[in-house]
Amino acid sequence: MYTMDWKKKIEELKKGTIPEHLAIIMDGNGRWAKRKRMPRKAGHKAGVEKLKDVSRWCGELGISVLTVYAFSTENWGRPTDEVSFLMKLFETTLRKEKKELLKNKTRVCVIGDRTQLPAKLQELIQDIEESSKHCDVLRLNIALNYGGRREILDAVENLYHAVKDLPAEGITQDYFSRFLYTYDVPDVDFLIRTGGDMRLSNFLLWQTAYAELYFTSTYWPDFNQDELAKALSEFSRRQRRFGKIREV
Ligand code: IPE
Ligand code: IPE
Ligand code: MG
Repeated sequence: MYTMDWKKKIEELKKGTIPEHLAIIMDGNGRWAKRKRMPRKAGHKAGVEKLKDVSRWCGELGISVLTVYAFSTENWGRPTDEVSFLMKLFETTLRKEKKELLKNKTRVCVIGDRTQLPAKLQELIQDIEESSKHCDVLRLNIALNYGGRREILDAVENLYHAVKDLPAEGITQDYFSRFLYTYDVPDVDFLIRTGGDMRLSNFLLWQTAYAELYFTSTYWPDFNQDELAKALSEFSRRQRRFGKIREV
């Protein structure tokens, strides 16, 4: 669904640099709901709706990989009824959105430790990953029960089992990153966090080493095309030096 305005914005943005891999910390659902005197659950529902829009917009913009933070390894510490509501919401969303995701040629992958998720949710994840394997417009990584430190430890463990006799000097950064959950996507170019806090909250610690960071106080359910365009035009203006003197 294009409005004239959005179409123009896309054209404008495409003249600049579009990040290949965009990561988003979708924060502020609870505060958005509170401000509207609604239960936090209503904020999470609105958050899912927003993700549907944003992933479509990313596809239209030619972003190849979008990784979103949906549930952290620390989020289990929330009240049980919020946690179980979220798990149910992930289930219904995957079930309801499968058709649309496939129609939009979105390849869905879930990153994180899925073994702790409810069995039904694990099945739905497996199903959408399998069915969307061939999709090539947008790669959508959903970080679910994801923790950056957990990911690094998992990588160490998998590497240890895979290559017991590898000399230590063989473990280069490139080689190590093949054991991360994101082994088949490039590092993050641009990270957006909504909700006003300026921290990573254990998200993609390895992959954001040289990412450009962008923080907005807008709550995730209020994030819109203008906000995305503003963030991306700022990305275009950033000078990425990767430790060198000139922009590369
Ligand atoms: C982000 O919104 C979604 C999840 C962590 C699941 P929050 O639920 O953290 O919303 P705030 O930060 O409390 O407003
Ligand atoms: C980060 O948000 C996790 C997700 C958006 C899923 P949190 O709300 O959990 O982060 P903190 O607790 O404010 O750092
Ligand atoms: Mg939060």
